[in-house]
Amino acid sequence: MKSTFKQVGVVGVGAMGQGIAQMSAQAGAQVFLFDMQGPAVAKAIQAIQQQWQKMLEKGRISNETCAAYMARLQACDAVGQLSVCDLVIEAIVENLAVKKELFAQLETLVPVSTVLATNTSSLSVTAIAAQLKQPQRFAGYHFFNPVPLMKVVEVVAGLKTDSEVCNQLDAFTRDMGHTPVRTRDTPGFIVNHAGRGYGTEALRIVGESVSDFATIDRILKDQVGFKLGPFELMDLTALDVSHPVMESIYHQYYEEPRFRPSIITAQRLSAGVLGRKTQEGFYSYVDGKAQMPPELTPPVVEDMPPVWVSPRAARRPELLQLLKSLDARIETGAQPSDQALILVAPLGFDVTTVAAVDRLDPQRTVGLDLLFSDAQTKRRVLASNPATRPDMRQAAHALFARDGKPVSLIRDSAGFVTQRVVAHIVNIASDICQQGICTPTDLETAVQLGLGYPLGPLAMGDQCGPASVLEVLFNMQTVYGDPRYRPSPWLRRRGALGLSLMQTED
Ligand code: NAI
Repeated sequence: MKSTFKQVGVVGVGAMGQGIAQMSAQAGAQVFLFDMQGPAVAKAIQAIQQQWQKMLEKGRISNETCAAYMARLQACDAVGQLSVCDLVIEAIVENLAVKKELFAQLETLVPVSTVLATNTSSLSVTAIAAQLKQPQRFAGYHFFNPVPLMKVVEVVAGLKTDSEVCNQLDAFTRDMGHTPVRTRDTPGFIVNHAGRGYGTEALRIVGESVSDFATIDRILKDQVGFKLGPFELMDLTALDVSHPVMESIYHQYYEEPRFRPSIITAQRLSAGVLGRKTQEGFYSYVDGKAQMPPELTPPVVEDMPPVWVSPRAARRPELLQLLKSLDARIETGAQPSDQALILVAPLGFDVTTVAAVDRLDPQRTVGLDLLFSDAQTKRRVLASNPATRPDMRQAAHALFARDGKPVSLIRDSAGFVTQRVVAHIVNIASDICQQGICTPTDLETAVQLGLGYPLGPLAMGDQCGPASVLEVLFNMQTVYGDPRYRPSPWLRRRGALGLSLMQTED
């Protein structure tokens, strides 16, 4: 196999360097491994060889391929031995001064044609390159952990990076069988920037006591299709990793309100309640299994009231059809009768506001989240308001559980749970496009491969309708008066004109 780079140096062979060395060898390059701690190199080579041995045993590679891979790893005991390399990838400690010092030294060792790359995840590529004599040959090359399994790599252009250098790194990524995405040098690049919406908005919802961790996780998994709920995800990543990332991106963007972290994770971090690895996080763990509270059992309601649906409900025809299929007695009058359960389905408003503005009896008013089509979701979410009568809440619960679909009940919240989180994710993604950090296509690829979302964030917005997402944000901004919900111009224009969020013309 012909590799874009023939001789690749990897400096720092910890968790990341090891994976990068493995993939570089698989891409066909001769790989030179160097680490400040001498014994780390032999250990890394052994660990990589074990990976290949496993691939051989599973029949995924042949004896010849395995032998060829093994012959491509070369231990170095001095950094000077990297002088033969046409690419050097750094994966050492995440410290600006230490990285700068290493590259200053590398620059004196390698030919001018050698590409220099950093695997930094949180430092500025431009800042690392600042004192180099040839910053144009320097780029960010951001892999994800574990490198062999995470198929996306961010190729980061610093202020002075030559685009040909990025082209070569793109090609080398493909040689590895991975997918490159191009990003400008901005805090969090694409993946860690786009990933800000999920956890932070979920934490805000919990912070307002709208619902509990487990219910929010269930809602987002069943309504949107996320593999893990935000709290399960934070438990997996551990708060000593995720909270500092939230803080770092927030501060690097000069306190941008969209990224504002939560005191909930700050406190849990200081208490050492980190997640799975400490057996205690948002969930407690017994034998490695998260302890989930049971689902709500739907109440039995003997005397189901008739149902009146607000004329302004989102997806009203669909809701009426659903009610028919659930065998509800539907009222058709302009006003609800005195017995009716009143259903509203607002976008971005809370049930209280809708009842007050539309002069509905709040005691009988219950809200349903219909951002996504009911047919697409595996759970229904109902919100009552502080005046809702318990019998009306129970009637709504029993009615919407009639076909066996799980129902979650939450406290009144502008935007429910799904609307808030999805709108926040879509808005941040839209702003990444607005800033020109990457193309919409690369954004979608990076988020799906890097974060494992069921859809790219722009496709997610297109699925529920950019106009609906825009409406959610406008109304939430009105209710909360919080600049974190201000829509990005990218979303505002496409939402207002009914265009796809993937539309690049402006
Ligand atoms: P690690 O701590 O597992 O490995 C770092 C290795 O670098 C160690 O073996 C250490 O001895 C060596 N080292 C430190 N300073 C050195 C120097 N001046 N010269 C030579 N070797 C040196 O760290 P990890 O997790 O592999 O991270 C490495 C880099 O990759 C960091 O910049 C980190 O931010 C970045 N990164 C980490 C990810 C992760 O999930 N762990 C994901 C993406 C990027």
